[in-house]
Amino acid sequence: MSETNLPFDEKFVIIKQISSGEKLKKEIERSLTNPQGFWDEKAEAIDWFKKWDKVLDDSNKPFYKWFKGGILNISYNTLDRHIKTRKDKIAYIWEGEMGEIKTYTYYQLYQEVNKLAKIFKEYGIEKGDRIAVYLPVIPELPITLLAAARVGAIHTVVFSGFSSEALADRINDCEAKILVTADGSFRRGKIVEIKKNADRALETTPSIQKVIVVKRTGHEIEINSNRDIWYKETIEAVEEKTYVPPEPMAATDPLFILYTSGTTGKPKGVQHGIGGYNVWAYWTLKWAFNPTDQDIWWCTADIGWITGHTYNVYAPLSLGITSLLFEGTPDFPAKDRWWAMIERHGVTILYTTPTAVRMFMKFGEEWINKHDLSTLRILGTVGEPINPEAWKWFFKVIGKEKMAIIDTWWQTETGGYMIAPLSGIDLVPLKPGSATYPLPSINAEVYDDRGQPAKTGTKGFLIIKSPWPGMLQTLWKDPERFKQTYFGRWENLYYTGDYAVKDKEGYFWLLGRADEVLKVAGHRLGTVELESALVSHPSVSEAAVMGKEDAVKGEVPVAFIVLRSGYEPSEELRIELIKHVRATIGPIATPDEIIMVNKLPKTRSGKIVRRILRAVLIGSPIGDTSTLEDASAVDEVKATYEKMKKKT
Ligand code: WT7
Repeated sequence: MSETNLPFDEKFVIIKQISSGEKLKKEIERSLTNPQGFWDEKAEAIDWFKKWDKVLDDSNKPFYKWFKGGILNISYNTLDRHIKTRKDKIAYIWEGEMGEIKTYTYYQLYQEVNKLAKIFKEYGIEKGDRIAVYLPVIPELPITLLAAARVGAIHTVVFSGFSSEALADRINDCEAKILVTADGSFRRGKIVEIKKNADRALETTPSIQKVIVVKRTGHEIEINSNRDIWYKETIEAVEEKTYVPPEPMAATDPLFILYTSGTTGKPKGVQHGIGGYNVWAYWTLKWAFNPTDQDIWWCTADIGWITGHTYNVYAPLSLGITSLLFEGTPDFPAKDRWWAMIERHGVTILYTTPTAVRMFMKFGEEWINKHDLSTLRILGTVGEPINPEAWKWFFKVIGKEKMAIIDTWWQTETGGYMIAPLSGIDLVPLKPGSATYPLPSINAEVYDDRGQPAKTGTKGFLIIKSPWPGMLQTLWKDPERFKQTYFGRWENLYYTGDYAVKDKEGYFWLLGRADEVLKVAGHRLGTVELESALVSHPSVSEAAVMGKEDAVKGEVPVAFIVLRSGYEPSEELRIELIKHVRATIGPIATPDEIIMVNKLPKTRSGKIVRRILRAVLIGSPIGDTSTLEDASAVDEVKATYEKMKKKT
């Protein structure tokens, strides 16, 4: 792979917290020399019913067991342990799409979680049972997760923007017993029919015994009296001050399953454990942002994704801080919604995505300047590479050139931050577009395609050489796929699927996915999933989906398709196919373009040559076509695409 031109000549950004970096270096050294000693000490920060016997059991690689023998409950660590010292402290400030505001103190949250835990028990939920959650970002979402964790159940949240089909697949894969959902949710002031989606899914999910329905929109919905229960009435029927003892859980018991896209059509059920994950969530947030009792933390992610799980639920509540939760859209009712919210709630830390930053750049500064953002003290991003222009804009316009930008690289699988500046230990000079150094105990390296460390400044594959507490335990009911996907390329090395470069100061630059996974506005989408969705439509015989650069969303999916005989390309068909993809996966998977061609460029063995399709998309030279079965396919694809571009 070639040397990469990074903005190396950028002057380091100097901000006042910056120090020599010695302290960070020492902590990193200490953690890598003696990882077990390091974590033995760090794990004391959370509460345990019984201490672990062994920090790391690596006798069955790559199925690592952290804090083996330890007993704890994460709902205790996020709630009970704060009741003595910060009972009346606000845990959540919630703002709904329509402007409603609700707050929960730690004590109120604790009470409601206990009540719901009681209900779960009454419905026969036992340790290890699965509870599926299909909710918008409303307080009942974290409450459900914490109540599930309290009784030892495993939760699986399905992002409320996913389709009924996606919901059914996930429920069936983990055979959930209970579904918690809502009558609807709000999007730009309009009702989204969540319950209707759930009902459709429930036609094919025999494992579900009860459905708990939160009233969010209050519009009329169908209620199946054998199965559906209203959340509010049920909770209100539970006695005040109900206490459900937190189930003593092994550190190595699973806490949740979160499905994410991979390189095949079937989403992967990423399984996280309790002990290691709790320790990792606690320390990563503390190291990166160092939130204190005075902070108002705002992570803008939906709890349907890992970012919301770790940094809207488990990490901030383990630290006992105040978080802002927001249900809705950044530009509703107006383009200054977020800035108004920061002013209204006195947000001190804003953690968001590069896509959001680029969107606000486009909206213009007048929306920002209307508001007093002086409470902010530090900023962060996640989900996709941040381009230096967006970084600098964020730094200048929102950060007033005084605030650090904590660019956090991590994945659903890693449980928490892996590469990020650590203002809670020692903030190193920042370079726009680099996530700086790996966290303590993260043994990261960039490899070339032969499995050797890549030369400094040369693009390669990011790998992690040793286990860390927050890592996934396995893929739900699919240990083989777990081994194959993450440890199959190089034995005992965790393969991230990302490209990266290490520069001469040892800074890491994350350069996007090296596999068939897209990051669309920070959301993870498998091209194969999209292709399967397209070919499941009767008109499509073949599909090739790839990412195309987009100024705001980073990348967007573009599909080349071949129609079955009897179908002709038309605008109506294009619209129908888009509808079909949205109904199969969800609106986030909407293809930006669908290019209908007679044939796709293929090798003689029948493999679609994506490189050529990509070249057509970006208008770069096509290169060698000698291996193609039929080189005329290239001209046809090119001509079709160019004709289409002219039209729009
Ligand atoms: C993929 C993981 C991690 C929480 C949200 C996404 C990309 C994530 C960064 C970053 C460059 C990033 C990677 C990674 N990614 N953060 N700071 N810089 N790329 O979790 O959906 O599991 O996606 O997101 O490509 O592999 P996810």
